[in-house]
Amino acid sequence: MSKRAFGDFQTPMPLVESIVSLLKSLGIGANRVLEPTCGRGNFIHGLLNAGAPPAEIVGIEISQEYVAQARLMAGENGAVRILQANIFDMDFGHDLSWQKDGDLLVVGNPPWVTNAALGLLESDNLPAKRNLKNLPGIDALTGASNFDLAEAIWIKLIRELYDQKPVIALLCKTSVARNVLQYVRRHQIAITDASIRLIDARHWFNAAVDACLFTMSVNRGKTCYEVEVYESLSTSQPQSRMGFIGDSLIPDLRQYTELQYIEGKSPYVWRQGIKHDAASAMELIDRDGNWYNALDERVEVEETYLYPLLKSSDMRPSQRKLVKRAVIVPQRHVGENTWKLRQDAPELWRYLNQHINLFELRKSSIYKGKPPFSIFGVGSYTFSPYKVCVSGLYKMPYFKAVGLRGGRPVVCDDTCYLLPFNSASQAARTAAALNHPITIRFLNSITFWDAKRPITKGLLSRINLDGLIERLPEPDIRHRTEKILDELAANGEIETLESAVMESPAQLRLL
Ligand SMILES: C[S@@+](CC[C@H](N)C(=O)[O-])C[C@H]1O[C@@H](n2cnc3c(N)ncnc32)[C@H](O)[C@@H]1O
Repeated sequence: MSKRAFGDFQTPMPLVESIVSLLKSLGIGANRVLEPTCGRGNFIHGLLNAGAPPAEIVGIEISQEYVAQARLMAGENGAVRILQANIFDMDFGHDLSWQKDGDLLVVGNPPWVTNAALGLLESDNLPAKRNLKNLPGIDALTGASNFDLAEAIWIKLIRELYDQKPVIALLCKTSVARNVLQYVRRHQIAITDASIRLIDARHWFNAAVDACLFTMSVNRGKTCYEVEVYESLSTSQPQSRMGFIGDSLIPDLRQYTELQYIEGKSPYVWRQGIKHDAASAMELIDRDGNWYNALDERVEVEETYLYPLLKSSDMRPSQRKLVKRAVIVPQRHVGENTWKLRQDAPELWRYLNQHINLFELRKSSIYKGKPPFSIFGVGSYTFSPYKVCVSGLYKMPYFKAVGLRGGRPVVCDDTCYLLPFNSASQAARTAAALNHPITIRFLNSITFWDAKRPITKGLLSRINLDGLIERLPEPDIRHRTEKILDELAANGEIETLESAVMESPAQLRLL
């Protein structure tokens, strides 16, 4: 099996040494240590060399080569046992045959690989359901479309070692730490003293993920599901405290509590942009006044079905310069009959049929049984003249007010979310409120920026815009609104007949 299938990232010795000395400084000493996937044994080496080594260390590793290296490193040291095994075939509660008693520390760095990646690698390095059947809730976890092997290992350790009251300190992705936290809370498993200490995974492992040392005490002391988050292994003061408000996990409880008045229900419905899954035919780029698709074909179709397109990359504060893109919008609402295009837009009908294979290849089941060339994320809101759009992908939220371009409503793709407006002033005012530093602070307090799509419709719907606008200083909002309106006007995005009349909130909600 490949290194990738084993999620193989051996921990460099300097990082091991920092972790071992941190644990010592926190008073987490132990008589017994388990390194559940010990690789070459770097953590064991670090523990043996740190002074006052544990009385007994057990390492488990699947790779024969690493087992040999770890055994060589441990030498004749009778305190160390390296077992060659697949941890998913073991029961940590019964199979470890401890020789000593005393406090148990679990330390290490479980594999960094997801079940989806294992599927692609045709690897079976997965927890077999039969071995996990006694772990409540694991089915929900392993049944999830994508879960991390490290999550399954965390849960196995917590469950099977529960009676031995271990301290567990493992390097893992921050997303894994959050999922484990949600799991223990959902199942009311007693944990306390949980902390996350961020590490630079790019530096240590050349991996582009957010990772940490996640530590918790299991079945000891008063249960607490709050987690102190430290900027690094060496900082002594936490930068924030993560915890639950209701069932929502909040990254920064202090900031959140201060700005909780913004939390509520959005009076307006946030919409996701257009989804078509056929970008090479549907999305066009302007070259010298002509439209081209990604197949480099010149496209001549009825212009009434083309709309200026904004993608996530256009959602930057400085990105006022227009990259001239268009998208074909063959329907005005989801499920609309497209056969009529044959008469109404014969050029478009011909073009779409020439590329029908691209539409037939669309995997998502949402397209099944729908009219040919169907799209999603389309409705009356798509055609509103003004919008406030935001990308779901970026770590810095920026709400962009957009108006008409070339007299046409702008649409965005499905990586973005939008609010529709009939007036430029209302769109500008909403963008001003959403981009206000207070709102951004609130968003920072509820958003895990390391998620693949940190901004979601669910998250945006939690901003009580009416309440927010009431609380923000009016002169400040007015000044920001005017600035946005000036920019829209300078870009020619405001209709000449734009009235200063603002829609009533009720009207806006109807869009
Ligand atoms: C991220 S590496 C870390 C190794 C070591 N803990 C360290 O920190 O240097 C993960 C290790 O898990 C091992 N591994 C992967 N799947 C395993 C399994 N099912 N059972 C036991 N070990 C496994 C890999 O061979 C690899 O050595």
